[in-house]
Amino acid sequence: MFIINFKNYEEISGPKAAKLAAVAQRISKKYKTKIAIAPPQNLLGIKYAGPILAQHVDNSKTGSTTGFVIPELLKASKISGSLINHSEHRIPPKDIKELIERLRQLNMVSVVCVQDVSEASLYAKENPDFIAIEPPELIGSGKAVSKERPELITNAVKAVHDARNNTKLLCGAGIVSGDDVRKAMELGASGILVASGIIKSKNWNDVVDEFAKAVIKKSK
Ligand code: G3P
Repeated sequence: MFIINFKNYEEISGPKAAKLAAVAQRISKKYKTKIAIAPPQNLLGIKYAGPILAQHVDNSKTGSTTGFVIPELLKASKISGSLINHSEHRIPPKDIKELIERLRQLNMVSVVCVQDVSEASLYAKENPDFIAIEPPELIGSGKAVSKERPELITNAVKAVHDARNNTKLLCGAGIVSGDDVRKAMELGASGILVASGIIKSKNWNDVVDEFAKAVIKKSK
């Protein structure tokens, strides 16, 4: 799995987001591989043939919950799933657990972001589709988790495996090259969650192509 988190970067504001979505769609088709995109909430209606994930979802009820984004309405808008507990939008453990279950009931994809191995272990027990480990200090740094903290990936892979369910491990933070992606996959990750390495690059096509190639090479 390869997820591009658009965050709220100026580079993808307004119509620019559609350009990046078109690049992801073209490359996904070229390699017959899934690339998920996570645009900001105001751009969730973007045209994209692959999976669209919300960057955040609230554990709020349907009905009178002004300004909250809830799973049932995301589902009704054909959104495939959501990141939960991203480092830049952390939520309490009780909400994380309840949201994993709510998304499961709706057949939606859950991607729980964690900062360390103990969190990976804790939330893997809830059987989300994916755990994404991202050390906060490397996010947006250009220094890849796969090279700076390789042990974090191998230990998180083990923690997820020990939960003995279907959860897969993704990793992210500072990934900027195909080599960073290859290294993550060699360490046992099932994919990547990436933002600035793509959004801030001058040539979206080349970088998405390079990352996709590195993800599928190992998944085969
Ligand atoms: O969600 C992706 C993320 O937090 C990693 O960000 O910019 O280091 O790829 P970045």
